[in-house]
Amino acid sequence: MKAMRIHAHGGPERLRYEDVDLPAPGAGFAQVRHTAIALNFSDVNVRRGGFYQAEPMPMPLIPGNEAAGVVEAVGPGVTRVKPGDRVAYVGMNGPFYRDTGAYAQARNVPESRLALVPETISDEQACALLLKGATAATIVERVFPPRPGQTILIHAAASGVGLLLTQWASHLGAQVIGTTGSQAKADVALAHGGAHAILYRERDFVAAVKEIVPEGVDAVFDGVGKDTFVRSFDCTRPFGTLVNYGNASGHVPPVDMLDLAQKGSLSICRPAVSFYLKDSALQATAQRLFALVARGTLRVEIAARYPLSEAAQAHRDLEAGLRAGSIVLIP
Ligand SMILES: NC(=O)c1ccc[n+]([C@@H]2O[C@H](COP(=O)([O-])OP(=O)(O)OC[C@H]3O[C@@H](n4cnc5c(N)ncnc54)[C@H](OP(=O)(O)O)[C@@H]3O)[C@@H](O)[C@H]2O)c1
Repeated sequence: MKAMRIHAHGGPERLRYEDVDLPAPGAGFAQVRHTAIALNFSDVNVRRGGFYQAEPMPMPLIPGNEAAGVVEAVGPGVTRVKPGDRVAYVGMNGPFYRDTGAYAQARNVPESRLALVPETISDEQACALLLKGATAATIVERVFPPRPGQTILIHAAASGVGLLLTQWASHLGAQVIGTTGSQAKADVALAHGGAHAILYRERDFVAAVKEIVPEGVDAVFDGVGKDTFVRSFDCTRPFGTLVNYGNASGHVPPVDMLDLAQKGSLSICRPAVSFYLKDSALQATAQRLFALVARGTLRVEIAARYPLSEAAQAHRDLEAGLRAGSIVLIP
């Protein structure tokens, strides 16, 4: 089969489209022929290297954590899925920098990691939804459930995760203020439930938020990190909660805990979705997300499709923040 591999960390040019052998699936594994592969920021972090702990990664390495497809064959003992089933998966029950391998035409996946995809969901939607939707679920279901009467600031509100958070928080009744890097992205965020959009590269978002809610927001959901997280303390109301779930602009610098007391008894949290997808949680989360899409509560926006062989260009565009919504690779 063909797969996209890196032989060393570095820029997008490290991605090479190569022939790779795929053995028959072993006991407990199903062989999935991929039809759509999700592109996630964690793929960029794995490709660049150095983002996660200094654990060396085995080379050559096939990146990717998330895909959808059709079961082609099953190994001994597999009972949950059969050839012909439509399935999707995200992660291999551990951190996303380990056991990658989705950037390939096919893959052997433990049956326990496969979610059956209902007819109401396309393969592209399924693979674009699981990781980003589970991240949104971690935040709105577990860390800070939005309620009517609350105002939530969502940074990069038109990003893959941000757009799902925007829809979900506004569906739950909260007023959403989204920051975005362009007017086009602001329009997307507003069309998905955002009440206000702030172009945070053109004006100070703290002042802009305070014009809308002088007392500050109840919560901040932030996947941008370095450029936005600590500054957001200044537009959060007393007893508010700040959730940093990502680092698109870089790591958040160390936080002085006294700042949290002095700026209003604030709470901060840094969730990692892999804990929310462990073991049987994956199946429950996947089916809940599929149901939310089927009901129209969440819309999955596919911003762009690239052939798998052009994954390097897809990475460039993701890193440049060119797209609103999710990017998929087609094998
Ligand atoms: N905690 C977890 O378990 C978890 C799970 C999933 C994702 N994440 C992380 O969450 C973050 C967002 O994920 P996503 O899928 O929503 O990403 P995405 O769709 O690629 O969007 C990232 C957005 O961040 C903004 N941004 C600001 N500064 C940037 C910079 N220097 N480079 C690139 N983009 C920048 C851009 O939006 P604007 O143009 O609007 O500024 C960009 O579109 C990533 O860091 C990802 O690794 C974490």
